[in-house]
Amino acid sequence: MGPGDLEIVLQYLNPLSDPNVVVGFEQADDAAVYRIQDGNVIVQSVDFFTPIVDDPYHFGQIAAANALSDIYAMGAKPLFALNIVGFPKDELPLEMLGKILQGGEDKAKEAGIAIIGGHSIDDKEPKYGMVVTGIAKNIIKNSGAKPNDAIILTKPLGTGIIATAIKKGVAELKTIQNAVNTMTMLNKTAAEIMRDFEVHACSDVTGFGLLGHLKEMLEASNVSAELVFQKITFLPDVRKLAEKGIMPGGSRRNLSHVAPITHFSEKLSELDCLMIADAQTSGGLLICVPAEQSARLVAKLQQASVPAQEIGRIAKEREKRIFIQ
Ligand code: CO
Repeated sequence: MGPGDLEIVLQYLNPLSDPNVVVGFEQADDAAVYRIQDGNVIVQSVDFFTPIVDDPYHFGQIAAANALSDIYAMGAKPLFALNIVGFPKDELPLEMLGKILQGGEDKAKEAGIAIIGGHSIDDKEPKYGMVVTGIAKNIIKNSGAKPNDAIILTKPLGTGIIATAIKKGVAELKTIQNAVNTMTMLNKTAAEIMRDFEVHACSDVTGFGLLGHLKEMLEASNVSAELVFQKITFLPDVRKLAEKGIMPGGSRRNLSHVAPITHFSEKLSELDCLMIADAQTSGGLLICVPAEQSARLVAKLQQASVPAQEIGRIAKEREKRIFIQ
């Protein structure tokens, strides 16, 4: 669901207060964080969705990489996972579900964790995802961004637009392969590398898009941000597809959600604005570090084949949250 709808629904809830809850609903962070013994915290997140690519094995990989991502975004180490499955068992071959689960299992192995249970239901449309439990001593929240921090994004944007093109049957094979490679890539390496730096805030870019997740980070940190459009990279063919009118509803909703708090340079077209608001699946990490550490962090990430870029800077709180030039 979009961020606007979610805000309305969450108004109906009033969770029991528990002193061991470190991060709950209110913070709009990536995962729930709960204090256990010895200063350790449990970090837990859940995510599942309907297929966004046709290949069942790739779908499983993407769903697992996406579910693990919130644990990495909190600076935590994943411990184990449970599967969540919906499948139309009388309409589709069980072999297909087997392939989906294989994809998930292979990504969990790459993350170094076992999947040790799950729950499945008979469902009209396939759905797959995971609950992932992790552990940390020091978590990285999305609320610590400081003026003059560099903002680093570790994956290109555009998976929402490409997923829509796949649904419409207009995506070329090479375009699909590029998107699959990006979405199946774990944020593990990026998370491990950022541990050696003074990271003030981190989140991952998923359904609310770059601007939606940045908005949450900026509001939680009481700061603003200045992004440079030219520094934001997109997967190949994303602009071409967007120019043909391929645009997910989620990306349009994301843009209207952030429009009141964002100043877009007049140089940017409506299409540019939609592209940077694109709803992502299994997107990259959005990392805030002191500006003087930025070049070294980006270089380390790129050496490890993580396509990271600095895309802007954090600024003092101003009349708008986000400025894009
Ligand atoms: Co997240």
